Parts: sequence; C-alpha cells; structure tokens
Amino acid sequence: MRIENVYLESFSLASFRNLSELLLNVSNGVNIIVGPNGSGKTSILESISLLSPGKGLKAANFDDMCKYGEDSWETRFKLNSKLGAAEIITNFRMQEKSRKISYNGSKISSTELTNFLNVIWVTPQMEGIFSTSPSIRRRFLDRIVYNFDPQHAKRLSKYEHYVRERNKVLAQRGWESETSWLGVIEDKITEEAIAISNARQEAIDLMQKSINCLATDFPKANLKLSKLFSEQRDGLSTSDCYKEELLNSRAKDSYLGRASFGIHRSDFVVTHQVKQRLARLCSTGEQKALLISIILSSIDSILKSTNFVPILLLDELFVHLDEERREQLSEYITSTKLQTFITTTDIIGIEYLALKSNIIEL
Ligand SMILES: Nc1ncnc2c1ncn2[C@@H]1O[C@H](COP(=O)(O)OP(=O)(O)OP(=O)(O)O)[C@@H](O)[C@H]1O
Ligand SMILES: [Mg+2]
Repeated sequence: MRIENVYLESFSLASFRNLSELLLNVSNGVNIIVGPNGSGKTSILESISLLSPGKGLKAANFDDMCKYGEDSWETRFKLNSKLGAAEIITNFRMQEKSRKISYNGSKISSTELTNFLNVIWVTPQMEGIFSTSPSIRRRFLDRIVYNFDPQHAKRLSKYEHYVRERNKVLAQRGWESETSWLGVIEDKITEEAIAISNARQEAIDLMQKSINCLATDFPKANLKLSKLFSEQRDGLSTSDCYKEELLNSRAKDSYLGRASFGIHRSDFVVTHQVKQRLARLCSTGEQKALLISIILSSIDSILKSTNFVPILLLDELFVHLDEERREQLSEYITSTKLQTFITTTDIIGIEYLALKSNIIEL
C-alpha cells in the first residue's frame, strides 16, 4: 500500500487567541514550537486541531478563540491534502455562532474535513481521560476512527440529528402517538448506530493488534468498547435488537426528554494488560504512559491499514517522561515520517529530536 503524505505547508492566523497576526512556513516532518508560558504555543496547535470536526483540542467555544477585543478570527492553511494541493480557510464571526469553512474556495461542512486530512492530538488535559466521563473517551476514540473511515464524522452528525428528531417527536406528540413516524426515525437511527459501532470496533481491533506487536517501554493496554446490550436475544440480529431497545425505551425517553439507550452512551474501556487493572484505577504516570501507548498503536495501525497519514499534535508531551521514554518517543516520531507539531518551553531534554526538527520560536 502506498502511503500518501498529508501535511501543512504554511498557515496564517488572524485574531486567534493571543495571536494578532501569525504567518508560518512549516516542515513536513517534525516542527518544535518553543516559547515561554503564555506565548501562544497551545493556541497554534488549537488552530490546527480545528482542521477536524468538532471544537478542537480544548473543546472550547469559537467565541473564546477570538482575540480579546476583536469580534472575529480567521485561519488559512495551505496543505497537501488527501485530494492534493488545497487551501482551507476558516472564519468565525461573533454574530454568526458557527464557523465557516471553505476548501479551495468552496464551502464545506466541518464533518467533510476528514475527506481532506486527519489530525490526532495529545494534550496534558487528556492524561486524565480514563478518570473522566465516557463522552470524552468516546470522542477520543471517534477521532481515531475518522482516520479509518472518513464517513464516520458525517454518520455521527446524522445519528445525532435523528436522535434529536426522535426526542422532539416524543416530547411534542408523546410516545403512544406517531408510532409509524417514530418507527421510521428509529430505523434511521439504527442504521447509523450500527455502522458507527462497527467502525469503532474495527478501529479498536486494529489498534489492539498494533499494541500487541509494538516493542516499546510503554505499557500495553487492552481496549474494549462497552456492550450495547446487556444481552443479545437469540435469533435476533444486532440491528433488530437495537430497534427493539429503542421501541422499549420510548416511554422512559419521553419522560426523561432524552435518549437513554444508544451508541452515544458507549464507553471506550481501557485496561492495563500486565496489571489487569482498569486504566482509571492506575497511577497518574501509568495513565499517561497508557495514553501514549494507545496513541502510538493508533498511529501504527493507521499507517498499516490506510493510505493516508494523520498530522500529529503533541502538547507538552515530553514533560514528566524519563529519559529512556523520551528517547523512545523521539525515535518513534521521527521514524513514522508524520508531520508533527510539538510544543515545549525548553529544548533541553529533547535535543536529539531538535536536531532533526524545524524549530519555531515564539
Ligand atoms: N481569546 C483570547 N484573546 C487573547 N488572549 C487569549 C485568549 N485566549 C487565551 N489567551 C491567552 O493567550 C495566551 C497564550 O495561551 P497558550 O495556551 O497558547 O500559551 P502557551 O504558550 O501554550 O503556554 P504554556 O507554556 O503555559 O502552555 C495566554 O496568556 C492566554 O491567557
Ligand atoms: Mg500550552
């Protein structure tokens, strides 16, 4: 399989966070962004993370990204995309709530971004991912799935739309009326849900294979998707079971005003392989190492099973890692040939990597 490199060539930011105007030419290999606290390193990564569906690596509101005192921001990226040379422009105006995205001059939706590139990130906030809510782990997994299935983002958005429709019908008309219309919506929900769940499971299977083969000092993890049903009834397909669950939960959902069952409640369950312990019960250092191990395996499986490689954003990743692990990670990053953006306040400790990198000083 021929791996196509996807990488940014240059970009400009205007009124984004603390950055009034910034124009950067970048390397298609490793880029290290160095600067003191508060200089804008994470903000640069955040602007790149917005080249994927959702609200970026801080899950922030677009309003908050507007430089204080301004009422709009804009980012322009020139890149070698999955579909060749491209310019992706995003702008946001306070009055308009949503961001506008264009690809080579044509308007696109954020879920379409995965047709052009993928971005994976690791931030210090993600180190606590195993102890937070399932929704954060689910989003983390879904971002990895985007790499394997460019339709995944679109499906999630359609799924959410149909679930909202069902909630609306249940709220306005009650669960005993409109049964045929509810049936139509639930069929659509089921179709998207099964495809989403299968895509998540396939990505997990590929990542698990990579984890089991990867030779690093990072602990191996066992990955699982939580069960959709407590038990699947004999003779019923997954899809029929799913529809039955939806049907059975109409009354409850009508009362609750939300969908109590579905793939929007799935959890990504991680266990420390050697210790046979749930990741959330591991120490802080073990959790960080497990997270890195999962990221490395996801990159490895993406490289093995897709034509395109993601862009990697690593915010302060090397902090608190011992020398051995820093070296292994540096070695791995340079060997993958992925375009990588690393932030640090100091090159000390990663001199080896810095020698092979483009240094961007803020
Ligand atoms: N909307 C905004 N307008 C102006 N400044 C902002 C805005 N949002 C955040 N900032 C400020 O921008 C600065 C840069 O933040 P950023 O997180 O990018 O810094 P950093 O270089 O990553 O720092 P650290 O090394 O501490 O992680 C901070 O001082 C932050 O308070
Ligand atoms: Mg930072």
